[in-house]
Amino acid sequence: MISFVLNGNPVELTVDGDMPLLWALRDQLLLTGTKFGCGVAQCGACTVHVNGQSRRSCVTPVSTLEGATVTTIEGLAATHGKPGELHPVQKAWIEAQAPQCGYCQSGQIMQAAALLSESPDPTDEEITASMAGNLCRCMAYIRIRKAIKLAAQAGKELAQ
Ligand code: FES
Ligand code: FES
Repeated sequence: MISFVLNGNPVELTVDGDMPLLWALRDQLLLTGTKFGCGVAQCGACTVHVNGQSRRSCVTPVSTLEGATVTTIEGLAATHGKPGELHPVQKAWIEAQAPQCGYCQSGQIMQAAALLSESPDPTDEEITASMAGNLCRCMAYIRIRKAIKLAAQAGKELAQ
């Protein structure tokens, strides 16, 4: 049995420890916001947070998560501590109208949220480096970057 905290709630899984977190989330826990893209840590569609850091869930065996704190797109808003409100990155995503088909977007948002928690006002170079592994077939990269900058700006205004 593997026990960890998922989106603020304790969960216990009795699955093969080699099962990738992605499939535990989608098939066992019915959280389908986290997407399968490549399965080999190359596209970022499956990005979640483990202990506050971005992680490719497609290559994260559940056996490595004992005692961990996992956040998925379904739980991201609650991490901001304002009940009923979206996370600032989600708000910025809406303002920038970042998604096209949307398939890559939960991974993009989770990666961007991890970036902004480490670097609240990232440079262009930091954004490029952090987001390089999150692919978008619709080529929504310009709007994704705009959304990250909007979220950073909102964070600066809140801090003033
Ligand atoms: S599905 Fe995990 S990185 Fe592509
Ligand atoms: S919005 Fe379609 S793959 Fe990114």
